[in-house]
Amino acid sequence: MSTTEYNFTSCPNRNGYGSLKWDRYSDPEVLPMWVADMDFEAAPEIIDALRARLDHGVFGYTIPHAEPTEAVLHYLERAHDYSVKAAWLNFLPGLVPAINLCCHAFTQPNESVMTANPVYPPFLSAPHYAKRELISVPLCLNAMDQWTLDFDAMEAAVRPNTRLFILCSPHNPIGRVFNREELETLGNFCEQHDLILISDEIHCDLIFDSNTKHTVTATLNEAIAARTITLMAPSKTYNLPGLACAFSVIENRELRQKFNETIRGIITEVNCFGYAACAAAYKHGELWRLALLEVLRENYASLQAFFASEIPEIIFRPMQATYLAWLDMRGLELEQPARFFEQNGLGLSCGEAFGGPGHVRLNFGCPKSRLETGLDRMADAIKNR
Ligand SMILES: Cc1ncc(COP(=O)(O)O)c(C=O)c1O
Repeated sequence: MSTTEYNFTSCPNRNGYGSLKWDRYSDPEVLPMWVADMDFEAAPEIIDALRARLDHGVFGYTIPHAEPTEAVLHYLERAHDYSVKAAWLNFLPGLVPAINLCCHAFTQPNESVMTANPVYPPFLSAPHYAKRELISVPLCLNAMDQWTLDFDAMEAAVRPNTRLFILCSPHNPIGRVFNREELETLGNFCEQHDLILISDEIHCDLIFDSNTKHTVTATLNEAIAARTITLMAPSKTYNLPGLACAFSVIENRELRQKFNETIRGIITEVNCFGYAACAAAYKHGELWRLALLEVLRENYASLQAFFASEIPEIIFRPMQATYLAWLDMRGLELEQPARFFEQNGLGLSCGEAFGGPGHVRLNFGCPKSRLETGLDRMADAIKNR
């Protein structure tokens, strides 16, 4: 198939399918542009693989097997220059359980976990669920007016009992791709304070800015690799989150053993459809992914034009990756921006959950026409308030 043959203009109706995104609102008039789940159908190559697996007709227990394992290892080498041994890989039914389990596996109850906000909400809740202390350091703006890690504030906040740093790279919700220098500085910070680095790289194949490249944290150097737990999945890129297939890469044998001991008997196996979709995505999904990036690039340009011309009070900073726009609404002085827009027919993620009050997150992983409808609703809501 050529990139132009994929359908990114119409989407199946999802109401009534138990969709977290679409069935959330009691009012059917609310257009959901919140959770990180795109409206597009999966790549036909993946649907074909799932159909073939379905036709087999037997759905017994599955174990990590050669096809998905080889697909992941080849993908890491091809896409990210990362040579990984099969023994370092663990298939998981999700990264959120992995983040929570890392808090249990690598820290004790009197220890603390560091991250930087705003950030994907489970990073902030996982330490609490494990009854560990959370140290969350706000991101700061650099000289180019881009969000970045605030290393001075991190130095001031880190404690002798801090054991983990949870990184989101590329970053949800700010959409930045951290450069080598930023990642190396973080790696050095983790070394100096003897922190294990959980590097959640689930958005690494959603870089729509053609001048930007993702660096896998564990490829920076051996010392950083030895303290890094890399978390990845095909789920965001290929819009497969409901199929629950993710994986970790842990090079350090001791950390791997600890992780494996902690997940034993708690984490379920990935199911046969998750494996089939994961293998198909990495083996046959590249053209679809490239076509998706074109759509995201266009949607991003529409967002930039819209905020600059229609609502300059909303600050939308440049981003390079993801389909999630982080919008600073503070200039509008709305008491609860997400609720305000929901009352006006637009369902957005509330910034507070990310540690970013006064902000909302808008999912632009949808056809351009749907994005325009959402933006029209936003403009009307502000005009008529
Ligand atoms: C940074 C990040 N990690 C993890 C997840 C979810 O991972 P999973 O569905 O594998 O639990 C998301 C979903 O939006 C995310 O943005």
